Amino acid sequence: MVLRLAKAGEKVIIGSRQQQKGEDSAKKAREILGAEATVSGMENSKAAAAADIIVMSVPFAAHVDMIKSVVESISPDDIFVDVAVPLSTAVGGSASTALGVWEGSAAQQAAKLLPPKTKIASAFHNVVAESLQDLKRQIDSDVIVCSDSQEVRRVVMQLAEEIPNIRAIDGGRLENSRIVEQITALLIGINARYKVTDAGVRITGLPAKG
Ligand SMILES: NC(=O)c1ccc[n+]([C@@H]2O[C@H](COP(=O)([O-])OP(=O)(O)OC[C@H]3O[C@@H](n4cnc5c(N)ncnc54)[C@H](OP(=O)(O)O)[C@@H]3O)[C@@H](O)[C@H]2O)c1
Repeated sequence: MVLRLAKAGEKVIIGSRQQQKGEDSAKKAREILGAEATVSGMENSKAAAAADIIVMSVPFAAHVDMIKSVVESISPDDIFVDVAVPLSTAVGGSASTALGVWEGSAAQQAAKLLPPKTKIASAFHNVVAESLQDLKRQIDSDVIVCSDSQEVRRVVMQLAEEIPNIRAIDGGRLENSRIVEQITALLIGINARYKVTDAGVRITGLPAKG
């Protein structure tokens, strides 16, 4: 996602638990994208403090701790986008099954941990990281965006559509994230059965964009 959004002209900061790892990842991204790209790397809490839109993509087993580690760095004007999927791998199970989350979904778990006024969305669950990383590959998936705020959904949908061939879908309230998150486990199983790597979702029957 870093490469795709930076290629689209966004200023991207890569967060990491280790400042040096973040900087090294940013250097690699700049080498791939060339001089015009604005990508830097920082320790997670510094990255969250510096960003307007914080996209958090960590394994579900680390989800709670990671949110707690950046919560102080997120301001009410920021948008927090959760990509986490509660795959059963978090408890030693299979990646093609998902866990039930007490709050309903990973995104709702985030909402419980963040201050009540935080602008939270969830998105990008059904797009494979490998496809995003390989700039030669055409993404063939919709991105379903959920948030309790229509305005937040609009902003995140606009961000997603900066990536060529992605169509953003208004997924409605944050509670719908449960369904979207679970689809990822389904797609992982489909990938395995069809021996492919980037099965995605497309919602049909919607009006064409004007
Ligand atoms: N991979 C996909 O195609 C895909 C697609 C849709 C959704 N997702 C979801 O997105 C999330 C991230 O997936 P991923 O495949 O990118 O995972 P990942 O490569 O295993 O982890 C992403 C980053 O999270 C940090 N991290 C890893 N373990 C951590 C821990 N125990 N505590 C804190 N930070 C940790 C690491 O960054 P540092 O070491 O730099 O801190 C790591 O580079 C997951 O919830 C996954 O289900 C993934």
